[in-house]
Amino acid sequence: KDSILLDQLKRPLRDLRISVTDKCNFRCSYCMPPELIGPDYQFLREAELLTFDEIERLAKLFVVCGVRKIRLTGGEPLLRSQLSILVKRLALLDNGPELSLTTNGSLLGEQANALYEAGMRRINVSLDALEDEIIERITNRKVKAIDIIHNIEIAQQAGLKVKVNAVIRKGVNDDQVLPLARLFRERGITLRFIEFMDVGMVNGWNMQHVVPSSTIHDIIHHEMPIEAVEQHEYGEVARRYRYQGTDTEVGFISSVNAPFCSDCTRARLSSDGKMYLCLFAGHGYDLREWVRNGSADEVILERIQSIWHQRDDRYSELRSDYMHKGKLKDKIEMSYIGG
Ligand code: GTP
Ligand code: 5AD
Ligand code: SF4
Ligand code: SF4
Repeated sequence: KDSILLDQLKRPLRDLRISVTDKCNFRCSYCMPPELIGPDYQFLREAELLTFDEIERLAKLFVVCGVRKIRLTGGEPLLRSQLSILVKRLALLDNGPELSLTTNGSLLGEQANALYEAGMRRINVSLDALEDEIIERITNRKVKAIDIIHNIEIAQQAGLKVKVNAVIRKGVNDDQVLPLARLFRERGITLRFIEFMDVGMVNGWNMQHVVPSSTIHDIIHHEMPIEAVEQHEYGEVARRYRYQGTDTEVGFISSVNAPFCSDCTRARLSSDGKMYLCLFAGHGYDLREWVRNGSADEVILERIQSIWHQRDDRYSELRSDYMHKGKLKDKIEMSYIGG
């Protein structure tokens, strides 16, 4: 009886990224620059955040719309108190979607077991450098690579499958490509290099800062030959490679030089309950209002369906048009929408 829900570009709704908090314990200069996100910065108030009941209810409706993967994001999702209780409730949904999480890794050591026991199986950890001096300059916090790496080990021991994300910026951490690749190759962990994107308005993005994936590919291939991995999941963001003669993969997420909007199946839910149709969207659709005004499930479901149905976003494919015309698009911040 159900026909598949498609948007204006015939893309189904398959993934939901739920931001569970806009707070973070890091201040990465490309995401929450400390000059702008200072001690007096007004984060969302407790009452503005969706409760676990509300998140669970919306997630259930998104699953009815076709969602098969739910990723929890932030800010830093592990700062949301009792997160594993939410994970457990999402894991128990009918037609249970695959659950994962994107984290900066700093609190993973203490939470990995609870996450696994709640039903989480995969996580992505962000780590942009191995040298502490560089990490501290990026995160503006006293973060040590060895602590994050240790937390990754704890997560693996807990049973979680870990991938690592590294955003490479010219002149900042481009000399970390090989050290990162060597370490995670040795440990059999998939590392994905992400092209620095012009998310939000505060990160001072400039094409000159972007290191193209092709450049990183060549740097790695020169020392550790890699070959393309054929299997490609519909809607996957990373191009996958493997180190020759091993099962260990390395990936490239090239939203700037090789946009993947044409099969973008992702919707985003901010921690205050707005639905966003694109990482670069200027505005969201308030679902919290509907959840809190006594609307029936069917009504909210129809609302989600009609929002998705009229979606025509494909910012990364249009980026160069915007640049050429010198137009500045209003965009939402990464720390609010969770990447
Ligand atoms: P997997 O299921 O493990 O492949 O997760 P993922 O790569 O989709 O999620 P993750 O949070 O690890 O994101 C990795 C990078 O891809 C981050 O820099 C995200 O901002 C970026 N990314 C994820 N989805 C999109 C998208 O729809 N558009 C763009 N432009 N970037 C995205
Ligand atoms: N461009 C690319 N990736 C980014 N991330 C944060 N800001 C940017 C940006 N401007 C990454 C984080 C994390 C993921 C959720 O998004 O490092 O790995
Ligand atoms: Fe926090 Fe991640 Fe943003 Fe860094 S990139 S400030 S770790 S949310
Ligand atoms: Fe999807 Fe927007 Fe990213 Fe394109 S830029 S892949 S439409 S989220």
